[in-house]
Amino acid sequence: MLCLGIESSCDECGLAIFKDGQLLDQVIASQVDLHALFGGVVPELASREHYRHIGPLFDLLLNRVGITAYDLDMIAVTRGPGLLGSLLVGTAFAKSLACSLDIPILGINHLHAHLLAIGLEYKPVFPAVGLLVSGGHTQLYLIEAADSFKQLGITLDDAAGEAFDKIGQILKLPYPAGKTIDMLSTRATVASTKLPRPYLDNSSLDFSFSGLKTAAAQILEQAPIPEGQELANFCASVNQTISDVLIHKLDRALEAYPECKAVWLAGGVAANSEIRKRAAALAASRDLAFLSPSPAFCTDNAAMIAFAGYQLGKMGYRHCIDFETIPRGKKIPDDMRKIE
Ligand code: KG4
Ligand code: ZN
Repeated sequence: MLCLGIESSCDECGLAIFKDGQLLDQVIASQVDLHALFGGVVPELASREHYRHIGPLFDLLLNRVGITAYDLDMIAVTRGPGLLGSLLVGTAFAKSLACSLDIPILGINHLHAHLLAIGLEYKPVFPAVGLLVSGGHTQLYLIEAADSFKQLGITLDDAAGEAFDKIGQILKLPYPAGKTIDMLSTRATVASTKLPRPYLDNSSLDFSFSGLKTAAAQILEQAPIPEGQELANFCASVNQTISDVLIHKLDRALEAYPECKAVWLAGGVAANSEIRKRAAALAASRDLAFLSPSPAFCTDNAAMIAFAGYQLGKMGYRHCIDFETIPRGKKIPDDMRKIE
């Protein structure tokens, strides 16, 4: 089965083709440089860029793989959550293509796809506790199969990546700042932190990161923006605080679901060296497998969408062509149907 995957939920326009156990190729047009000028993603600009790139990228991908559109068996497209205008460019393109080629279509949950991307490189182990950490999302799941995700926890405000990026903005680091904060942390001499670890004194598996930015801003107001070694030390503090919160809640979820055999970690922030190291150590301390995509498959990409569509398509799932596109903050309906 040749499955085309389309990703356009935020600022990366990507297309990929997955065929029976193999990623054939993927193409991506990143808008990071454009949005960096504004210190964050500008939704209207993002959808215009997707609209500009999606057609030429499709032609380029088919060319590189050496097939025509008529060779495609299935189309998988991110249906949400994300920026509505950006998502609509992808879903409209995918629906038109599926209609004109008369092939099945699946609207993919972007968050599940981030975690399922683990299967691109490793054999997935179920059941697992999955931690998804990205620029827009922070979620904990109980994952029992490719089609069985139970949400255990979610951020009540900012995502972990947003916390990295907003604090990075105050520190005048280039956007998105997560990677730079991570890199600078490795040069730090001090690893203690004055920053608060929010929303831990409860039994919940939810997260809250919005207070961190305010706390960081208040500390930074009292002195000039740090430079050199002081900057590295402050970054290490941020890195450690965010990791502490994530690892604490991950541990709590593992305690609540002792039947789990693995920890899955995915999303852009999963590329963070400290979080990766500590999640792996936590899994090892509980004798569990630790699975996380390599950094290239952690950030937004279309390979994960093609692969999620391939897996669900093989299991017999399909969507009606009128499936809804879902912006961030709205629940994704459980409306796939299974054919025998
Ligand atoms: O998954 P992703 O590409 O996009 C979303 O779906 O949000 O994640 C992007 C986020 C950004 O917030 C970026 O700062 C963060 O991932 N990020 C990192 C690292 N690399 C990327 N955060 C911390 N450490 C990193 N090494
Ligand atoms: Zn993402």
